Amino acid sequence: MKAFFCIIVAVLACNGIESLLLPTWRGLRSPGHAPSWFSRVRRYPIPTHRIIDPIEDCFLVTSEEGELFFKSPSDEPTVCGIYMIAEPDKRIQVIFNYLDVPCDNGGLVAWIDGWELNGQVWPADSWDDDRVVESCDTRPQRKLVSRQNAALVQYRVPARGKGFAITIRHLRNARPCNQMLFGTEGVYTLRNHGETGNCSMIAVSPASVRVLDLNVGQSIKRGTLLDVETGTISHCTKRGLVDYADIGGASGLDHTKMEIYDSICGLNSNEAHRPMLIACEDTVIRLVSSGRYQNSITLAFSPLPLEHYEHADLICSINEV
Ligand SMILES: *[C@@H]1O[C@H](CO)[C@@H](O)[C@H](O)[C@H]1NC(C)=O
Repeated sequence: MKAFFCIIVAVLACNGIESLLLPTWRGLRSPGHAPSWFSRVRRYPIPTHRIIDPIEDCFLVTSEEGELFFKSPSDEPTVCGIYMIAEPDKRIQVIFNYLDVPCDNGGLVAWIDGWELNGQVWPADSWDDDRVVESCDTRPQRKLVSRQNAALVQYRVPARGKGFAITIRHLRNARPCNQMLFGTEGVYTLRNHGETGNCSMIAVSPASVRVLDLNVGQSIKRGTLLDVETGTISHCTKRGLVDYADIGGASGLDHTKMEIYDSICGLNSNEAHRPMLIACEDTVIRLVSSGRYQNSITLAFSPLPLEHYEHADLICSINEV
C-alpha cells in the first residue's frame, strides 16, 4: 500500500508548476492541473469541428484528427495545452487555419514537436530548438509535422474573444523511433531500423510488461550468418555486448532519467515466462543500438492493478519537485 501512496503523491506533486527547461520559451508553462492523464481524455467521436471549452479543456488530451477552435473567454493569462497523440506508427500534423492572438500582454501560441509537462520534455534525448515554434499576431504558414506520434500546442491568450483554429491530421511514419503509448493495453514493437542511437517507448502510467519477442544485438544488417537463438541475455554491457534494451520506469516524461529494472539482449522468439511489473508514473523501454544490427523487441503491455504495486519488480523513487 505504501508504494501506491508514493505514486499518488508523485502525481500530485507534479501539479506544482515549475519553470521550463527550454531557454527559447518566454515563460509559457504547463497547465497547472494534470493529475490523471487518461481519465481526463476526451474522445471525440467524429473528426469534425470542435470548440475548446476554456474551462473543461485547458488540459486537453486528444487522439483524434479534426479541427479545433479556441476563443479566449477572458483577459487572464492562463496557459493551456492541447496534447495530441496518435498511433505509434503515425506523426502529428498541425495546420493553423487562423490565428488572432495579439502579442500584447504575453499572448502566445507555441507548437511543440513532443510533449512537455511539469518542466520535463519528451523525447528529451533528441530535443533541439527546432522542436518549438512560437507565434502571435501572425500564424505559422507552413504545416507543422512532428517526428513522433505525440505533439503539443500550448497557448496563452490574454485577450477576450481572440483565439485560433487548428486542423490535426495523423500521417504515416514508416520508421517510428520514439513512441508514446496511448493507454497501457496492447502489443507494440520497438525497432532501430538498423540505425545508430536510442529509440524508446513510453506508457504514461504504471504497467505490466511482458517480452514476447527479442532480437537485439544479433541480426547483422548485411551478411548471411544464420541467427542462433541465444535466449534472453542479461547484463549485456558487462559481457561486452553493445546493443541492448532497458526496461524500467521514470517519474515524469524525461525517459533519459529512467530507472532500469532489467537490461536485456539476445535472440529469443519465446514469450517471457512472466511479466515485469513496473510501478512508476511512466513505464519506459529504451533500445540502445550501435548501428551494426537490426534490432527489435516486441512487448505486451497491460495495466498494473493497484493490488500488485506492493510486489512490483520496480517501484520508482519519487521525483524531487
Ligand atoms: C543512449 O542511451 C545510453 C544509455 O543510457 C546513453 O549512454 C547514451 O548516451 C544514449 N545515446 C544518445 C545518443 O542519447
